[in-house]
Amino acid sequence: MADRGRFITFEGTEGVGKSTQLQRAARALSDLGLEVEITREPGGTPMAEKIRELLLAPREEPVSDITELLLMFAARAQHLRNRILPALEQGRWVLCDRFTDATFAYQGGGRGVPPEQIEILETLVQGDVRPDHVILLDAPVETGMARAKKRGELDRFEQETLAFFQRIRETYLERATANPGQYHVVNAELPLDQVSESVTALLIAIARMPSTA
Ligand SMILES: Nc1ncnc2c1ncn2[C@@H]1O[C@H](COP(=O)(O)OP(=O)(O)OP(=O)(O)O)[C@@H](O)[C@H]1O
Ligand SMILES: [Mg+2]
Repeated sequence: MADRGRFITFEGTEGVGKSTQLQRAARALSDLGLEVEITREPGGTPMAEKIRELLLAPREEPVSDITELLLMFAARAQHLRNRILPALEQGRWVLCDRFTDATFAYQGGGRGVPPEQIEILETLVQGDVRPDHVILLDAPVETGMARAKKRGELDRFEQETLAFFQRIRETYLERATANPGQYHVVNAELPLDQVSESVTALLIAIARMPSTA
């Protein structure tokens, strides 16, 4: 039976470079001969992508924090069971663009949902499944927002205030400080290629570590 793959998530505020770095990291790991699957949250399966559309679309009707939280975890339940866990069991590495840390950061730090409530859903949906490693791309909020804005129309989250994203950045950093073995904070303010070098070096080091599963 193949070894279980590693579950690596990429986190950070808007426009820090998660999607770009994840693509580059997937190529670097494939070059090492590893089987790599890339995916994203919310989303990653047909149904979860539909939930993503519901979550991101700007709308007139106010969206309650709890509705948002439950939809995030509904999408995650589909994604985990139908995509992430089967891939890991087949020995594939899963690189995921955002995961539950984003829920603690956005719905927790950003919206103000108490972390204890998020933890209840985390346990319900994930049992004891957690990312093996979290790559936290960190940059001043303004830097990422300026990069993201170049893409055009803003989604429901991107329309939030600077203070909202500052709380998100702080929550991410607090979680990283509390668990330094699982989180790897990368300075995402540096030029693209320098960030990629740091991320690739980290992933190569992780590949050399014995799998904990
Ligand atoms: N280190 C960097 N220096 C300069 N530009 C960068 C850097 N990293 C990413 N970019 C550019 O910033 C933009 C946003 O990058 P990317 O889409 O990867 O960020 P993201 O974190 O996935 O954003 P989002 O949170 O909106 O999904 C892209 O145009 C990308 O090329
Ligand atoms: Mg992205």
